[in-house]
Amino acid sequence: MNPAPSTASRLTITRPDDWHLHLRDGAAMAAVLPCSAAQFARAIVMPNLREPITSTAAALAYRQRILAALPEDRPSFTPLMTLYLTDQLAPDEIRRAADAGIVAAKLYPAGATTHSSAGVTDIRKLYPVLEAMQQLGMLLLVHGEVTDPDVDIFDREAVFIDRVMAPLRRDFPALKVVFEHITTREAAQYVAQAGAHTAATITAHHLLYNRNALFMGGLRPHHYCLPVLKRESHRLALVEAATSGSDRFFLGTDSAPHAAALKEASVCGAGCFTALSALELYAEAFEAAGALDKLEGFASHHGPAFYSLPRNPGTLTLERTDWTLPETLPFGDALLKPLRAGQVIGWRVQAG
Ligand code: DOR
Ligand code: ZN
Repeated sequence: MNPAPSTASRLTITRPDDWHLHLRDGAAMAAVLPCSAAQFARAIVMPNLREPITSTAAALAYRQRILAALPEDRPSFTPLMTLYLTDQLAPDEIRRAADAGIVAAKLYPAGATTHSSAGVTDIRKLYPVLEAMQQLGMLLLVHGEVTDPDVDIFDREAVFIDRVMAPLRRDFPALKVVFEHITTREAAQYVAQAGAHTAATITAHHLLYNRNALFMGGLRPHHYCLPVLKRESHRLALVEAATSGSDRFFLGTDSAPHAAALKEASVCGAGCFTALSALELYAEAFEAAGALDKLEGFASHHGPAFYSLPRNPGTLTLERTDWTLPETLPFGDALLKPLRAGQVIGWRVQAG
């Protein structure tokens, strides 16, 4: 049973981490980085840049660019770097990456999402790499959708479980796998029963919205992300998983900034920019489920446990205050529209 909704006016939790974040590069990165650094101590930085991060050297150089762009008031924000898996990546590169402190590698099925054309065409080609990762304790992060055009877009995650995830688990039982940004009841159920080496991240937008949000009074490009929003029964299953207290589910915003002009175009890129109000959105979702008491585990404890990292020393406080999100933010030489632009949200992260 869920407890009665809390009426407290503030909530203090261990400083959280974002286990799935797109920061981009250059001026765009410098524009969005302060949002994440204001709320999170660490973030898993996704490697799907226009020129994907496929080597240790590229990951370390990217890390340096992020550190150099950190705002002065948040010098201790820690980007945790990832490698982008391709058909060509050699197991030796995995060893170099592990030695250099790169914690994970990301599997994008080729063509599944933004900047994924260099991704993996057949997971069997990766087996020597996965063997090395399993040995070295490097995590595998998975965009879990098949790309088969014959599979309906709303079914691509569920089909991925049968075609890819289950065989992967069978063949690499000791590999730590994060099923990223899960969106379906099938994925939540799969992860809940898959054993201690499988976990999942869940975004705030998949906890708050179902697919009707894509079509409210007209096509809504700022609600378009991948995996695409699903029907209400799936949203409810995600809320149940996130608020269950199970340490196999944790926070990953998948905050994915795209210039507003490119979102509002005849072909709209996939991604919701949520980093500006990430914890506020999660707090809203957990409060609506009567489970604010489960937010700290999800946001701050379960991720470090799965990644075998310490919890953060500091705290973050959310206050119950209405505020209006800006319509736009600067984004290099473009503009960025946050999810909920111009709308009111009922929680606010306290500065500090
Ligand atoms: O919505 C998404 N946006 N999903 C992804 O998998 C990638 C991301 C991006 O990089 O824009
Ligand atoms: Zn992502």
